[in-house]
Amino acid sequence: MESFKNRRTFAIISHPDAGKTTMTEKLLLFGGAIQVAGAVKSRKTDKHATSDWMAMEQERGISVTSSVMQFPYKERVINLLDTPGHADFSEDTYRTLTAVDSALMVIDCAKGVEERTIKLMEVCRLRTTPIFTFINKLDREGKEPIELIDEVENVLNIQCAPITWPIGMGKRLKGVYHFLNDEILLYESGKNYEKQQARTIQGLDSAELDEALGSELAAEFRDEIELVQGASHEFDHQEYLAGKLTPVFFGSAINNFGVEPLLDAFVKFAPEPQPRETLSRVVVPGEPNCTGFVFKIQANMDPKHRDRVAFMRICSGVFEQGMKLTNTHTGKELKIPSALTFIAESRESVDKAFPGDIIGIHNHGTISIGDSFTEGEDLTFTGIPSFAPELFRRARLKDPLKLKALQKGLEQLSEEGATQFFRPLISNDLILGAIGVLQFDVVAHRLQHEYNVKALFEPVDTRIAYWVSSEDDKAMKQFKNRNEANLAIDGHGHLVYLAPSMVNLQLAQERYPDIVFHKTTETL
Ligand code: G4P
Repeated sequence: MESFKNRRTFAIISHPDAGKTTMTEKLLLFGGAIQVAGAVKSRKTDKHATSDWMAMEQERGISVTSSVMQFPYKERVINLLDTPGHADFSEDTYRTLTAVDSALMVIDCAKGVEERTIKLMEVCRLRTTPIFTFINKLDREGKEPIELIDEVENVLNIQCAPITWPIGMGKRLKGVYHFLNDEILLYESGKNYEKQQARTIQGLDSAELDEALGSELAAEFRDEIELVQGASHEFDHQEYLAGKLTPVFFGSAINNFGVEPLLDAFVKFAPEPQPRETLSRVVVPGEPNCTGFVFKIQANMDPKHRDRVAFMRICSGVFEQGMKLTNTHTGKELKIPSALTFIAESRESVDKAFPGDIIGIHNHGTISIGDSFTEGEDLTFTGIPSFAPELFRRARLKDPLKLKALQKGLEQLSEEGATQFFRPLISNDLILGAIGVLQFDVVAHRLQHEYNVKALFEPVDTRIAYWVSSEDDKAMKQFKNRNEANLAIDGHGHLVYLAPSMVNLQLAQERYPDIVFHKTTETL
């Protein structure tokens, strides 16, 4: 019987170039979701200059299929959530990590632990997300395996339990030893798509190993394994689930080598869908009523229809097509007749979805990131981060007649959560706030292609934005009257104070003690 128990929902975290795209493709191949290599469009977009990024993004199409991929493997149904690698899109990644139950960290064996990996690991730690580790590109020379393990342990502060261990690397790569199965998988470049295609030797002590490696190398390797066993941690399932220990695998994603042992262990040990916290109580997946939260919005997936798709993680119950759910943020009931599910290359209409699954809901701006859905109960899922913009620019139109279209474009694109849109109370400026500078180029590009509006973004005298609220209507009125020049309305109709400097902000906070200044809208 289908149930949430066989779901495994995870994301890959890595520094750009470590091999996330390649790994994704191999996992889909093993899961039978794609038939040929090369089908997953590279998201290498992530690590290129803006101009390249845009050209590629266009070529790729704004494709949802790479945001969520579902595929079966053995007795499990796996949901792999994609995360953009570029640092300017990190909010999107952080929010996606709230929708998974575990993560796979991919590390380049020559580079070791890199900066983005450290950041993403910190995010995983906030929710004690269990982590698998894959050390990639073993077909090239890299750091010594023991050095890599040390680096992960010391820099990321997590214990490592090697599950596989390489026999040589680069040109000398001969295979890996599997500690738990006591078997050796021999490496043959390009021939490791399925286990049966690669030769397997049972038992480290087998004479076959001497024959395959030569007795000298085999003896050296046996000594090495003894040393590693003495110096490293043993795999402990509970410690892994508690986020304190990571099982480590070595391999070469591009050669399909070492990926299958990883996937086999993943479906065996990765956690099933976990409970989720709300403001009032913890929701467990086995509850009968359907609940979920939205962690991502993608606008204009089909530019002709100006639709937006909200990605919702199911947290409890069973979602069925045509179901009515209440958006607890707006209090409105919504019939969901055509939710999408994401199976590798295609989007399909979903009949049923279980906790751990992600469904896509078409809407026209009625759903926001962070919204919770239930069958009526007033629940708000917590922990979906919202970000305060750090950079501000004023949109300037090249064609003044396009003001309406510009407003609409800025409003709709900001619903995706990467930028925020502000309308000052006393001027006609349109101000965009973002976290990474690349966002402005992306918005300008999308305005032109999706809304047919040419706009520039120019510097503006805003340093920081704080949302304002007050229990005291009179105090709020007075505050508004005296600070009109610094106040704006955001895309959701909330009042925001746009401060030209930190000093200005501090003064305002001191001068108006009855006004509450919020760094993000989460606490409004
Ligand atoms: P990313 O999504 O994490 O950014 O990484 P991606 O998979 O795009 O891989 C980055 C580069 O590393 C790619 O090369 C890819 O082919 C290569 N790569 C991935 N896995 C391995 C591996 O196991 N061994 C070796 N030697 N290389 C690997 P590229 O030159 O940037 O692109 P391409 O021209 O090969 O597509």
